[in-house]
Amino acid sequence: MERGLDIARAVAVLEGGGLVAFPTETVYGLGADAASEAAVARIFAAKGRPRGHPLIVHLADGAQLDDWAIDVPEAARQLARAAWPGPLTLVLRKGPRVAAAVTGGAATVGLRVPAHPIAHALLRRFGSGIAAPSANRFGAVSPTTADHVAGELGDAVDYLVDGGPCDVGVESTIIDLSRGRPVLLRPGGMVREDIERITGPLAAADAEAPAAPGTLESHYAPRAELIAVGADEVPAAVAEARARGAAVAVLAPGAAFTAWPALPAHARRLPDDLAGIARDLYAALRDLDAAGFDVVIAALPPALGLGEAVGDRLRRAAGPRRSRRKSS
Ligand code: TXA
Ligand code: MG
Repeated sequence: MERGLDIARAVAVLEGGGLVAFPTETVYGLGADAASEAAVARIFAAKGRPRGHPLIVHLADGAQLDDWAIDVPEAARQLARAAWPGPLTLVLRKGPRVAAAVTGGAATVGLRVPAHPIAHALLRRFGSGIAAPSANRFGAVSPTTADHVAGELGDAVDYLVDGGPCDVGVESTIIDLSRGRPVLLRPGGMVREDIERITGPLAAADAEAPAAPGTLESHYAPRAELIAVGADEVPAAVAEARARGAAVAVLAPGAAFTAWPALPAHARRLPDDLAGIARDLYAALRDLDAAGFDVVIAALPPALGLGEAVGDRLRRAAGPRRSRRKSS
């Protein structure tokens, strides 16, 4: 795998049907030419991702929206104007240019204009859409540094653009606008409050919503057993895990630890603000996995702002049986 900051080289790899991993403001993406069936097929192979799980097409500019989507509703244009470039993905009816492999045969496509200057430079020089999922193996935690990508995908990537750590740290918010009223498919980097100011109340994903693997119950999973609980339940969860003989780490904002002076567990301190928690979350989970803890007990933040996305990822990392919370 080649690695560097050579945008011209990355564009040449994409033009040759190869795979380029690149930073976005949310997480690193694993990109291929969104108009090429063969190039997109390589993404699924590299990730070990089942073909029915659609990819997001990244664009340099909202003005390209109508090149990739049809029947674009006014609400989508308003959201695009307000949010792009930024951590928001819009699901719309797909246009003919989208390779069938991108959407697994579905009639819709996810589109987003990322805010990262390197992603933007790459997209502008390439001049067309780049299909890119997060640059991790299927089901694993998304990468927020180039080292995460290199460690996990290695030679499956032809060129890795090393742009340092990602700012937002959780994936984009996904809104489905293909079926009339806006539906929240995945909370993420753009917070609900900012979206609803434009769209009005978002509907929750239901059985009719298109399948999104990010919405599988168990996903974003670290190797350690993760238990996600409210902050007040952390000491009891530690005691329970210790009683089983497990090596336990607690993942929580630094300030929370002052309430637990004698916690018999390794303390992994996150920042106290939600933006900092989101930014550092996936790297912290990877560190704790590498350190070999059996159990990670994570404190759920309040479900406000970025706390909604952080809580969502912690619950999915915990899997359906290991997450509990007293309220919301
Ligand atoms: O922040 C992000 O969104 C990152 C960066 C690289 O842009 N990308 C990302 O991609 O998280 P991925 O593939 O790991 O997650 C995208 C999610 C998946 O759950 C996928 O099923 C869903 O978006 N998705 C994509 N296209 C869709 C569509 N047409 N309908 C419904 N869900 C879709
Ligand atoms: Mg992903």
